[in-house]
Amino acid sequence: VSEPVEVGAVEAFADGQVTIVDIANRTIGVYRNGDEFFAMLNVCPHRGAPICQGTITGTMLPSPPGELVYGMDGYVLRCPWHGWEYDVRSGQSVCDVDKRRLRTFAVSTRNDHVYVEVGRDAS
Ligand code: FES
Repeated sequence: VSEPVEVGAVEAFADGQVTIVDIANRTIGVYRNGDEFFAMLNVCPHRGAPICQGTITGTMLPSPPGELVYGMDGYVLRCPWHGWEYDVRSGQSVCDVDKRRLRTFAVSTRNDHVYVEVGRDAS
């Protein structure tokens, strides 16, 4: 059982950015995308890079031959070390190259403050 931990006021989180917070000796990235918030462990499942120093982006979606379809813009975190990409909403590897998932945590907002639950996955 874990209680949601307050990590700051909504306006303290810059839109489109990942802000690092420390909760219970874990380094966690809190990402704001407009009114949405996501939280993930700052450890890449591949080789342990500080993944929150990576880039928020989109990715190429599965599409018919000869078509290039870009999507998920703002929902993909790309690791700075080897470029693996994860969906910040689920922690799943984009393109399913690997079954290992980025550890994610449930985030909520209440009274203009942001709360992270380290005991509960986002998905
Ligand atoms: S450590 Fe993140 S892709 Fe290799």
